[in-house]
Amino acid sequence: MKIELNQNKVYFNNGSLKKEIHPFWLRERVDGDEFLDKGTQQRLFDPTSLDNKISINKANINENFLEIDFNDGVSSKIEIKKIAQEFSNEDTVIKPIAKIKWDSTLKDIKNFRYQDNFFESKEMYDLLVSFYKYGFVVIKDIPTEDNFIVKFANSIGSVRRTNFGEYFDVKSKPNPNDLAYTSLALAPHTDNPYRNPVPCIQLLHCIVSEVSGGLSTLVDGYTVTEDLKNQNPDFYKILSEVKVKFKFIDKDVILEDWSELIKLNDDKSLKQIRFSPRLDFVPILEKEKLDLYYRARKKLSEMYNSDKYRIEFKLEEKDLMMMDNYRLLHGRTAYKTSEGSRFLQGCYIDYDSTEGKLRHLKRKYNL
Ligand SMILES: [Fe+2]
Repeated sequence: MKIELNQNKVYFNNGSLKKEIHPFWLRERVDGDEFLDKGTQQRLFDPTSLDNKISINKANINENFLEIDFNDGVSSKIEIKKIAQEFSNEDTVIKPIAKIKWDSTLKDIKNFRYQDNFFESKEMYDLLVSFYKYGFVVIKDIPTEDNFIVKFANSIGSVRRTNFGEYFDVKSKPNPNDLAYTSLALAPHTDNPYRNPVPCIQLLHCIVSEVSGGLSTLVDGYTVTEDLKNQNPDFYKILSEVKVKFKFIDKDVILEDWSELIKLNDDKSLKQIRFSPRLDFVPILEKEKLDLYYRARKKLSEMYNSDKYRIEFKLEEKDLMMMDNYRLLHGRTAYKTSEGSRFLQGCYIDYDSTEGKLRHLKRKYNL
């Protein structure tokens, strides 16, 4: 991209397109010491308080800088590279990490190992990239004392507290308020579809595992929904259009949120899946539409529960799994309490934690 000048007007030219840059847009970006805090890169002035009739008295290109005198008496040198970066207007850190679709044939995924200074290491950067590619990652050797999972969450970003607390203990107990707290098998599901917003990422830390069952199961919702889109476009369409109600009732809280089972971004790419067939309430629609909806949901459920897509593995003691609750479904096989104890701790973080850490590490290691 090139910056060009013509009669005190500034243009950008990317080879195929030449357009004038609004003078106000440039005025907002003045970066002298009195206008911009160098540490935070935050403005020291409020551009909404400026006169909208900003114009340019004089403009000049001096090597890598655009020098401008504005009609309100302010002069500034703006780095041309910075303007070019803004024109690309793309997330250059998270979005370029392409999701890798996987199914039951997935093998040899790298496990990471916890060590000193882990959260500031290049290894942590690699871990987060792997997480965005596959939607999950397993880290070995995580200390198990003092609810370390919360420290782990807060060292990537911030733990997402819910009404279950900062973290939750997963073990079978009497009078459970969720099937997770039994020794029964758990079919693939996403967590907490009734929250607004739904927690983005679940961390699950294995503290004690004396049983032979209780394997962790994962399904890539991205692979399944892409396959559904190709095989049954009508099913995909209705599941990505109809909002259903998800509800959780406890003695002192009622949580409720409405969403499609397959939620799409504006560009029709996958944003989020929700699947928890014990908690969803389909609205009353026309009979024909409901007929299609129920067939579509059944098909999606069969795919989510199929051996074709599921991986199973044992979380060993000290293993911590981090999984994308907007992309993957998780579950577990049954286990026998007579064999011994099984104890895991879980908590949530949101995407701001992983994105913030990844951007920081990319900057730190100049990647
Ligand atoms: Fe769960």
